[in-house]
Amino acid sequence: MRIDKLLASSGYGSRKDVKKLIKDKKVYVNDVLVTKEDVKVDEVHDCIMVEQQRVIFQKYIYLMMNKPSGYLCANEDTEATVFDLIKEPYKNIFTVGRLDKDTEGLLLISNDGQFAHNLMSPKKNIDKTYYVEVKNILKDEDIELLKSGSIRLDHEGIKEAKVDKIDDYHIYLTIQEGKYHQVKRMIKNCNNEVVYLKRVRIKDLQLDPNLSLGEYRSLKEEELKKLKDD
Ligand code: URA
Repeated sequence: MRIDKLLASSGYGSRKDVKKLIKDKKVYVNDVLVTKEDVKVDEVHDCIMVEQQRVIFQKYIYLMMNKPSGYLCANEDTEATVFDLIKEPYKNIFTVGRLDKDTEGLLLISNDGQFAHNLMSPKKNIDKTYYVEVKNILKDEDIELLKSGSIRLDHEGIKEAKVDKIDDYHIYLTIQEGKYHQVKRMIKNCNNEVVYLKRVRIKDLQLDPNLSLGEYRSLKEEELKKLKDD
């Protein structure tokens, strides 16, 4: 494959951007400076370096992170973001949907826009399950209200939800939308307050219990397949 094609599809910008990297003497293949953008490289065996960092050739990146509290799901901010936790020099990656700064748990990170859209669009009816701890006892009528779909947020109705009660203060809440602060606002509608929130599942994908807070790993083939299946 041509070096400019490989770098462009690995997130190093357009072919024009890559041409500039080469002109600026920032690209090496097996320790040899690349001077032309049509140089052919072997993406599996060659050691390709840009600005002293090894290029990981992967057209699409799919990561699962156990998001810790205290990190924003934003590409750039003056505060800490989840991308500060990622060691590899992946380019153009983004979070698949967002979790609040104080929310923990399952966060997908990718550079595949279609994948993100298919999981996050409310039209696709994808289940997202949250472990929710609340401040005051959740009564049966509160649980019915959460399930009912009769709560209105942003002057609109929301879809019905699933609730699995753990005890008086803890539930698993499964929703198919991702409105701003949706879970917190649903709980507020029950005159209650979320004190701890963690996403534990998206579609069939459970948060890997071996991932500590702040850790991440690539999705396995079968996990990706299940997430992509209609
Ligand atoms: N709902 C919330 O209120 N916050 C989140 O982070 C996710 C869902």
